[in-house]
Amino acid sequence: CLSSGDTQVGGGEQIADSAKVMSSMLDAVMIRTFAHSTVTEFSANSRVPVINGLSDDLHPCQLLADMQTFLEHRGSIQGKTVAWIGDGNNMCNSYIEAAIQFDFQLRVACPEGYEPDARFLALAGDRVTLVRDPRDAVIGAHLVSTDVWTSMGQEEETAKRLALFAPYQVTRALLDLAAPDVLFMHCLPAHRGEEISTDLLDDPRSVAWDQAENRLHAQKALLEFLVPPSYHHA
Ligand code: NVA
Repeated sequence: CLSSGDTQVGGGEQIADSAKVMSSMLDAVMIRTFAHSTVTEFSANSRVPVINGLSDDLHPCQLLADMQTFLEHRGSIQGKTVAWIGDGNNMCNSYIEAAIQFDFQLRVACPEGYEPDARFLALAGDRVTLVRDPRDAVIGAHLVSTDVWTSMGQEEETAKRLALFAPYQVTRALLDLAAPDVLFMHCLPAHRGEEISTDLLDDPRSVAWDQAENRLHAQKALLEFLVPPSYHHA
């Protein structure tokens, strides 16, 4: 694991140059960054698979773990209803991609101005519905998920976001409006008392710890899929 201070990525060296050098030494690269273009530019110049470990736009590895967790607890998610509460951020965009990939209905409840990326909404068509009131999103839902209100890189907006997002806290009472067998997920780290009530991760409907563990299993599977065992550098 290399932090930004350990590499030249985003530093003095061009991303393309870093990709050429690093991919000559590695079997796969996972990048956690800000601008999504860092991932795509690196990937375009890499000889080995590049995994998005989180960008400002998307967080696909978390969705692999979330979908695995739903499958383990409830079976197929196809045709189910999922509610995303809070910020229309990278996680929300990845939920939209998952709604397309796994064929479920997604209801997003977010404040005005914090909607998910229009590019992903356009791809999803009628699989995604935007609402303002979290209760409208959660009614009858089989899965409810949320995330921090201030993502990495947005720290200066924290105070403004705390006030704006306050009506979007996920509580036990909110989950009571969902399907009786609803699951609650949070990609962590959780800010108790902000996007979730202090008791929510202790609620039996929360599967956040299984979800966290499944990051390991899902990403091991992803590496197995992307890197053939016989892979050797030419
Ligand atoms: N939306 C959050 C996810 C953290 C795993 C962030 O980008 O900071």
